[in-house]
Amino acid sequence: MKKRVFLVVLDSVGIGELPDAADFGDAGANTMKSISKSSNFDIPNLISLGLGNIDGIDYLPKSDSPKAAFGRLGEVSIGKDTTIGHWEIAGLISESPLPTYPEGFPDDILEEFSRQTGRGWLCNKPYSGTEVIKDYGREHLETGKLIVYTSADSVFQIAAHESLIPPEELYDYCRKARAILKGKHAVGRVIARPFVGEYPNYTRTSNRHDFSVEPTGRTLLDILKDADRDVIGVGKIYDVFAGRGITEKILTGANDIGMKTSLELANRDFDGLCFINLVDFDMVYGHRNDVDGYAKALSEFDAWLPQFLGKLRDDDIVMITADHGCDPGNVSTDHSREYIPLLVYGKNIKNTNLGTRKSFSDIAATIADILGADYDAAGVSFADDILLQKDDNNEMTQQLICAAKEAMKAAYAPYSGYKVGAALLTKSGRIYTGCNIENAAFSPTNCAERTAFFKAVSEGERDFEAIAVCGGKDGIISGYFPPCGMCRQVMREFCADDFKIHLIGAQGDYKTLTLEQLLPYSFSQKEIEN
Ligand code: THU
Repeated sequence: MKKRVFLVVLDSVGIGELPDAADFGDAGANTMKSISKSSNFDIPNLISLGLGNIDGIDYLPKSDSPKAAFGRLGEVSIGKDTTIGHWEIAGLISESPLPTYPEGFPDDILEEFSRQTGRGWLCNKPYSGTEVIKDYGREHLETGKLIVYTSADSVFQIAAHESLIPPEELYDYCRKARAILKGKHAVGRVIARPFVGEYPNYTRTSNRHDFSVEPTGRTLLDILKDADRDVIGVGKIYDVFAGRGITEKILTGANDIGMKTSLELANRDFDGLCFINLVDFDMVYGHRNDVDGYAKALSEFDAWLPQFLGKLRDDDIVMITADHGCDPGNVSTDHSREYIPLLVYGKNIKNTNLGTRKSFSDIAATIADILGADYDAAGVSFADDILLQKDDNNEMTQQLICAAKEAMKAAYAPYSGYKVGAALLTKSGRIYTGCNIENAAFSPTNCAERTAFFKAVSEGERDFEAIAVCGGKDGIISGYFPPCGMCRQVMREFCADDFKIHLIGAQGDYKTLTLEQLLPYSFSQKEIEN
């Protein structure tokens, strides 16, 4: 059976500072919050998937019944760049950040580079890409020396005029630099930056080329490729993984081309992963602190989304996430250490609240799990939390959830104030509801679940399929309300191990557990009979 997973990385669309953000100089950073204030910000489709329901997001509207599973993920790796973020999404944790060179590259590196290229160097400082060609372009053309510069990112960039050094020759110099920059000097990317024109109107050409460092360990991409699955890299994915584990690359550049390509891929057969990066959020707007441009770009993605989701087949899964932040609303133009959002959508996905998860790498573990590949990289799979069981009937579950919420209204709870509702589904398809009924003597209190069970049993029912339960102070659902021990024991009496308990969450979501999970090693009729 062919399965397709589309993993879409909205580059730099973080959703708020990680607990250690201050160590990275990013206290208070929140990319999504900053752009949400722009008048260009209009993302109804992401909202309906459940973006606003994610933990920690209190500045976006919430959906009553989000269409996707949703959560936020923290970064375990020490870093906040594209490479380290994507690697962690793919199950590779980096213990140390990629090296940066705020003071320029060490002499021994540049001397070796100069020896191998036969050319000297200019600049060797962090510099803006457009300024560096203006300030050093003429000297470069006069002397033949290469313009070497860096940025706040882990990059070794070489600018050269195309009339003096054709792009192919420049790429060759980049390969030499790539081979020299090893071990503690393994920079994320060596970048060829060709330019053309006359001073002072030099312009950079589209012949930019990135030479990335190879992942330092095994990733989901290697795992899937080894398992004979397709791994299609769209946008800069091929570069970020230095080609490792990719079976097909499609370079796209701007967001609109990336989105158009994604639509084409949705029409195509493949078996495995389509890993898409949309780079403009970061490259064009984040680094330039362009709040309105950033908001417009996300709104454009949002407007494109229904068309894409509409093309999905029954077994397809789409994950929408990010790789770090780049808050355009604060003074920094650098990346920011933020949580990333995660929305998981598909016909077989239920709208679970995944809460706050420790590592981006849970995405990789989950994708491997869904695609049935043996996984030996970092991360914890949440596939069981989001996949509808084969026999799960989503429509019936939604009906049960509504019935439980309705039943909660009748709760008689003058003493505790906690109102609880339950809706019990029989195998024959009938629904029995119940609420909690308290008593001044306290102990005669009956829970909602037992009310539903006893109503059903007293009507002659004996075979049960599932129960949905909700509850909260004054009838306001603020989180899952799991059945008490006594109710579990009653379930045990009448239900099999695979009886399903749907716990209704605060965000229109629900989480399904089996009786086996709720009450393992339980005492039942069997023990008496034996
Ligand atoms: N309650 C239920 O209805 N179901 C449970 O499984 C746990 C507790 C009710 C009993 C009481 O009226 C109130 O919640 C507070 O304990």
